[in-house]
Amino acid sequence: MRKKVTIVGAGNVGATAAHWIAAKELADVVLIDVAEGIPQGKALDLLEAMPIEKRDVHVIGANDYADAAHSDIVVITAGIPRKPGMSRDDLLQTNYKIMSDVVNKITAVAPNSILIIVSNPLDAMAQAAFKQSKFNRERVIGMAGVLDSARYRTFIAEELKVSVENVTAFVLGGHGDTMVPLPRYSSVAGIPISELMDQATIDRIVQRTRDGGAEIVKHLKTGSAFYAPSAAAVEMVEAILKDKKKILPCAAYLQGEYGITGYYIGVPCKLGERGLEQIIEIKLTPEEDKALKKSAESVKELCAVIGV
Ligand SMILES: NC(=O)c1ccc[n+]([C@@H]2O[C@H](COP(=O)([O-])OP(=O)(O)OC[C@H]3O[C@@H](n4cnc5c(N)ncnc54)[C@H](O)[C@@H]3O)[C@@H](O)[C@H]2O)c1
Repeated sequence: MRKKVTIVGAGNVGATAAHWIAAKELADVVLIDVAEGIPQGKALDLLEAMPIEKRDVHVIGANDYADAAHSDIVVITAGIPRKPGMSRDDLLQTNYKIMSDVVNKITAVAPNSILIIVSNPLDAMAQAAFKQSKFNRERVIGMAGVLDSARYRTFIAEELKVSVENVTAFVLGGHGDTMVPLPRYSSVAGIPISELMDQATIDRIVQRTRDGGAEIVKHLKTGSAFYAPSAAAVEMVEAILKDKKKILPCAAYLQGEYGITGYYIGVPCKLGERGLEQIIEIKLTPEEDKALKKSAESVKELCAVIGV
């Protein structure tokens, strides 16, 4: 039987995620949104591209959740995005209400699914979904690190004029100004970037990565990034559906790992058919550890505001 992925929120990130999933023939897709007609129209339009793309994938759109039953994975992108001048944290109250509504409905129809949370502020929304769904932590995972690392890798590849395929890089911590790019674990064809660039260049790239979301918001003015974010969520979907045991930076609920307990924060995770199968603990320098703890503190503050 074909796998089924439901995407809640048929906006920029959600509809583009549906596009990537269909184009890669990963699963049938159900697109759900509160806006009447939008998920139906986008789903039908995407379905009609399948003969051209030669992909046997079924795509449907709906306003209610009945079609989401038996989903293997549910990607939640419902919520408002930021506008210029806004931080991700400014979205907290509005998106918390939306997240609660969505999680209530989705857990009723797809109690065995794995949830991938995308809505911002990411770590607090993942925590809200985890608490409300009462799923175990293996089945509630947040997307941020794959995107932040992809931005970091893009800038390294552009700077050195090398293939993006040669660049591996890791960004840990919360999805916000306190994210922790790790130059020490970033390499090009196995060569540490510190051998290829001076410290000032690395610092500039790290700062551009931190500001990567805001840079796009500034250009778009009416919304935020969606091609790379949706591709990042779909890399997680693919790792789980294909049981790839792929190590990706994801927001996971920590239970003592990295000295943090009871919060979502970005760490290296192994993704496979059970969802989050392992958290990989790497040794951090005192400065990196301090930056990760600082990042966790800002997640903690947001969670306290919404009481999750
Ligand atoms: N984690 C990340 O790295 C990352 C990256 C990009 C965007 N985001 C976040 O993802 C979210 C979506 O961004 P977007 O650009 O797609 O926004 P968008 O406005 O294009 O789409 C959001 C959709 O959610 C729908 N929606 C609102 N309330 C709903 C509800 N109760 N039930 C179902 N659907 C509902 C809206 O109708 C809209 O179609 C934002 O919160 C944004 O900040 C996160």
